[in-house]
Amino acid sequence: MSSKTVFPARLGGTVNVPGDKSISQRVAILASLADGTSKVTGYLNGEDARSTLSAMEQMGAKAEFRDDALYITGVAGRLQQPDEPLDMGNSGTGTRLLAGLVAGAGIEVAMIGDDSLSSRPMGRIRQPLELMGASIGLTGKRGTLPMMIAGGNLKGIGYLLPMASAQVKSCILLAGLYAEGKTTVIEPRPTRDHTERLFQSLGIPVEINGLEVSLKGFGPKGPRFNARDFTVPGDFSSAAFWIVAVAARPGAELLIENVGLNARRTALLDVMRRMGADIETTVTDATGDPYGTIKVRGAVLKGTVIEGDEIPNLIDELPIIAVAGALAEGKTEIRDAAELRVKESDRIAEMVMNLRLFGVEVEETEDGMIVSGPALLKTPSVALNSKGDHRIAMSMAVLNSFSDAAVTIDNVGCVDTSYPDFWRHMEQLGGKVT
Ligand code: S3P
Repeated sequence: MSSKTVFPARLGGTVNVPGDKSISQRVAILASLADGTSKVTGYLNGEDARSTLSAMEQMGAKAEFRDDALYITGVAGRLQQPDEPLDMGNSGTGTRLLAGLVAGAGIEVAMIGDDSLSSRPMGRIRQPLELMGASIGLTGKRGTLPMMIAGGNLKGIGYLLPMASAQVKSCILLAGLYAEGKTTVIEPRPTRDHTERLFQSLGIPVEINGLEVSLKGFGPKGPRFNARDFTVPGDFSSAAFWIVAVAARPGAELLIENVGLNARRTALLDVMRRMGADIETTVTDATGDPYGTIKVRGAVLKGTVIEGDEIPNLIDELPIIAVAGALAEGKTEIRDAAELRVKESDRIAEMVMNLRLFGVEVEETEDGMIVSGPALLKTPSVALNSKGDHRIAMSMAVLNSFSDAAVTIDNVGCVDTSYPDFWRHMEQLGGKVT
C-alpha cells in the first residue's frame, strides 16, 4: 500500500493537466471501432484509460504509443470475442460503456474489476440493455461485477434514465448503434455529452432535442465509419484540484492551458465565482469538445448552495468543493448528490469522515453535506486512507496544503487512475510531498 506525506504549502503557478479521462476512454472505444488508423494526441496515460484501451485490444483493435501519440487501428465495426475476461480495473466508465458496445456487437464477454469497481451498481445498465434484448448476468452479491454479457440482434428503445448518468446514457447509445430501429435516451438533467460530440465528429448521426438524444441503429452489422485524428484536451476534473487550491488563497494565481472547457463539465467555475474567486477562461478551440485556458486568482471565499441541474456538471468535483467549503466563510451546502454514494467510494461518507479528522464542522445528509467554515484546521492524529478513491486522496492532499503540519495519506496508488503526475505537479506548484 503506497502512502504520501503532504506538507503545508502555498500553491500557485502554471500547470498542464493530463488528458481527459472521459474523452480518452470514448476515443479508445470509437477509434477501435473505426475503419483505419487514428492518431490520438493527449491520450490520458492513466490506469482507467489503459484498462479501456486494453479491453479494445482484446477485442481486435491494435494500439501503439509512438512519438508522444497513440495510434489505434480499428476493427471496422467487427469486434472479436475476447479469449479472457476483460479486466476493467477501477474504470466505471470503461465498464458501463463497453457493456453497451459488446451487448450490441453480439459477442459474449465477461467483465471483472478491482474491489472498488466490484462494489459499484451495474443494475442501472442491465435494465435498459435487457429491454433492448441482451442478457446481462451480474454474479456479484448486490447487482455488481463480475458481469457476463451476451447480446446481438438488439432492438432500439425509448428509455427515461432513472438517474442523471452520462455513463448509462452512453452505454445505451453505444448498444443502439447495433440495434434495429431508433434508440432514444431521455435524461432527467443534462449530463456530459462527450459521446454525442464524438459521434457527430465521426459522422454518426445523433439527434439532440433538449434532454432527448436519439440515433437510428445500423443493425447487427454495426456502424462503419472512417478513422480520424483526435486531440484529447486536458482533464477539467484534474484541473479542479488546483483551481480550488488557488481560489481559496488570497493573492495566489494559477494558469492552466489546454484544458477542457465543455460547459457540461465546468460548473465548478460557476461555484467558485459565486464563492468569490476571480476566474477567467479563454476558449482556444470550440470545433469539437471545447478547450482553452483558465486563470484563477485567489480570494476570501464565502459559502454557497450547490444543487439541482448543476450537480451532474460538477459531479466529480464535489469532494474538492467540500474542501472549498471548509475554507470558506459560512455554510456550503451540497444537495441532490446521492449519486456520490456510488462512485469509487461513498464520497459523502468518506469526505465527511475525513473533514472531521481535520476538525471541520460538517453535517452529513442523505444526498450531500453541509460544511461550515472557515475551519481552523487541526492535524489528523492518524494517517488518512483514500479507500482506493483517487479523488478523495487528491482532495485531502489539497486540504492539507492549507494546514500547518504534515499529514500522511495511505492507499494513494489509486491516483494513477486519473492523474499519475499529481504529486509531481503539486511539487511543481510549490508543494512538498514525500
Ligand atoms: C463519467 C460520468 C460520470 C462521472 C465519471 C465519468 C463518464 O459518472 O462521475 O467519473 O465518463 O461518462 P455518471 O455518469 O455515472 O454519473
